[in-house]
Amino acid sequence: MDTAFDFDRYDHIRPILWTGQALELLDQRKLPFAVEHVACHESDAVAQAIRELTVRGAPAIGIAAAWGVVLAGRAVEAADGAGALQQLEPALQRLNAARPTAVNLAWALARMRRVLATAGADWKQLLEREAQAIADEDLAANRRMGALGAALVAPGSGVLTHCNTGSLATAGFGTALGVIRAGMAEGRIARVYAGETRPWLQGARLTVWELQQDGIDATLIADSAAAHLMKTGAVQWVVVGADRICANGDTANKIGTYQLAIAARHHGVKFMVAAPSSTVDLDTADGEAIEIEQRDPGELYGVGGVRTVAEGIAAWNPVFDVTPATLIDAIVTEKGVVERPDTAKMRALFGG
Ligand code: MRU
Repeated sequence: MDTAFDFDRYDHIRPILWTGQALELLDQRKLPFAVEHVACHESDAVAQAIRELTVRGAPAIGIAAAWGVVLAGRAVEAADGAGALQQLEPALQRLNAARPTAVNLAWALARMRRVLATAGADWKQLLEREAQAIADEDLAANRRMGALGAALVAPGSGVLTHCNTGSLATAGFGTALGVIRAGMAEGRIARVYAGETRPWLQGARLTVWELQQDGIDATLIADSAAAHLMKTGAVQWVVVGADRICANGDTANKIGTYQLAIAARHHGVKFMVAAPSSTVDLDTADGEAIEIEQRDPGELYGVGGVRTVAEGIAAWNPVFDVTPATLIDAIVTEKGVVERPDTAKMRALFGG
């Protein structure tokens, strides 16, 4: 990508703000019609915000959880980090339990634990520095993977994305949406389509709004229109994010991603996963071992708070699925690109 790329022009939104006293989260449950923030003054409020999707997206929940540890530390007196870690363990576990599928949450908490394990009397400052580093590194990773991902796309291409993987889901710029931002800026991407992403409508409520804020045109489609869109020839790539990428390249992402990958292969459309290396989990061999979050079936009973389903109907609401590595053409991270991923290629790039 052109080194003069104007990041600020294409990236205005920030979902997480550390004020020095509290964690302010842009309330993603209320977008796009209300832009409101929730202030968290203690770690349990952060855990609740993660559970209730006030803050969401794999990298963003990792960053929020790291700040949650800083907040938990405010209530602790200890001579060194190891002493603090003992006292903080229950708060760390409550943060970790907030959502199960995105590995970035456990990854960020492991980083905070490691800092505590060796810190001296200045452990509070070191915790704060680590949380800020996690956020800063995420933004830098997104900008880098945006360039790497966009380079794979031929000029004039159309792309389809799913869920929200943008600034709202990260420290900024986004993963799949970062690739799209970079690709639009370079003229490689000519058309952007976003699926609604039932049941929580991250695509309809968040992605197309976020792109509109940055002056990028996108066309919304019903999730069920994706295969038909591919058949028309309007898209050459599906570009999505990830919540966990296994050692063999199997990838958990928002429910509906797997069916997009199947439809893409059928129609000769390429399939790209863009994620920071913090989403790569070499300890999980393949997708079978990933815990898929199940949410309240009530999320399927209505739209915008209006009930659309008769009483007494059963519903099943898994909110992630696993796309097998064999359906993925490229995994793009800030460390590099793995084309047609398998365990050997994944270990070669991430193993060290
Ligand atoms: O339930 P959500 O909204 O947290 O799910 C988010 C996704 O599945 C995203 O695609 C993924 O976290 C990547 S975000 C950069």
